[in-house]
Amino acid sequence: MKRALITGIDGQDGSYLAEFLLEKDYEVHGVIRRVALEDPEHQLWRIKHILGKIKVHAGSLESYPSLFSIVEKVKPDECYHLAAQSFVSYSFEDEFSTINTNINGTHYVLSAIKERAPKCKFYFAASSEMFGHAKEVPQNEDTPFHPRSPYGISKVAGFDLTRNYREAYGIFACNGILFNHESPRRGFEFVTRKITNAVAEIKHGLSKELRLGNLDAKRDWGFAGDYVKAMWMMLQQDKPDDYVIATGETHSVGEFVELAFGYAGLDWKKFVIIDKNFYRPAEVNILQGDYSKAQNKFRWEPVVKFKKLVEMMTEADIKRASGKNNPSTCNVPVK
Ligand code: GDD
Repeated sequence: MKRALITGIDGQDGSYLAEFLLEKDYEVHGVIRRVALEDPEHQLWRIKHILGKIKVHAGSLESYPSLFSIVEKVKPDECYHLAAQSFVSYSFEDEFSTINTNINGTHYVLSAIKERAPKCKFYFAASSEMFGHAKEVPQNEDTPFHPRSPYGISKVAGFDLTRNYREAYGIFACNGILFNHESPRRGFEFVTRKITNAVAEIKHGLSKELRLGNLDAKRDWGFAGDYVKAMWMMLQQDKPDDYVIATGETHSVGEFVELAFGYAGLDWKKFVIIDKNFYRPAEVNILQGDYSKAQNKFRWEPVVKFKKLVEMMTEADIKRASGKNNPSTCNVPVK
């Protein structure tokens, strides 16, 4: 039985990846912050249904000793390093903690693997945010990075650390350059979930408006459930490498808004207010990924495309707001 260690197992991607690996008969271990372990009802809602099947370890990206001892104890065959401060907006408010936590956390996990489990295959959650002010559209593995946020900068450093551990120490280390990926388990601070949650609340008379920033920003949005499969596939190849994972389509925030409100039979113009407070000091205007390398190398394809994704998320939030039981979103705190 293969052993996998997932940092950030309680996040959107961690929860889908844990389910995927359990189905493949992996022994699944997860690193979770102690504060979350102490409040499972609110903080572990995405993995509540599999808590009996996985092993969780208290650890923090800020503590090398905690990560070192978990790697030493678990001796994983595969490590998926997903944990990070991942909200771009917040990284402008507190640059130092985002940069410190994200860069050091990645460095600590890589170093612990090198010292205690050098045969372990390592996956780093790199990001399309690294392309930032992108030099070309669509972006592929050769597109130069020009990050536009402290978060993006931290991911470029994580990417370089991962590649360097591969080249310098022979670790089987891969970077997954994932474009935006969403689901009914997405955090409420990200624009897609903020929109679908607001649509559901407006539909049920719980809210009257939705305040948003830049509606013109364009993103390549895919489904998180499809993307975790790509993470695993990268680690099953003969050689470690870096891959773009995307849908190949780009859509504006405004298009997402229109589709989500339309799905609920609402006219978005009556509810959406543009609020400059949600604009970013530096914006990433357009992301669109060229995933042909992953497609050619291991035949990965996105299954859920834009329209279906918007409908899936809107429907799940409408059901949740109406009190119906939806296993993927139950116990989500309503903001
Ligand atoms: N969050 C948010 N809230 N974003 C808004 C809003 C708002 O009210 N109004 C407009 N936007 C715009 C943002 O300016 C941005 O251009 C776009 O919506 C998407 O924002 P997010 O959903 O917060 O995601 P992101 O693209 O910044 O980052 C996500 O994708 C990255 C991959 O490219 C995150 O998941 C990152 O962790 C990930 O690496």
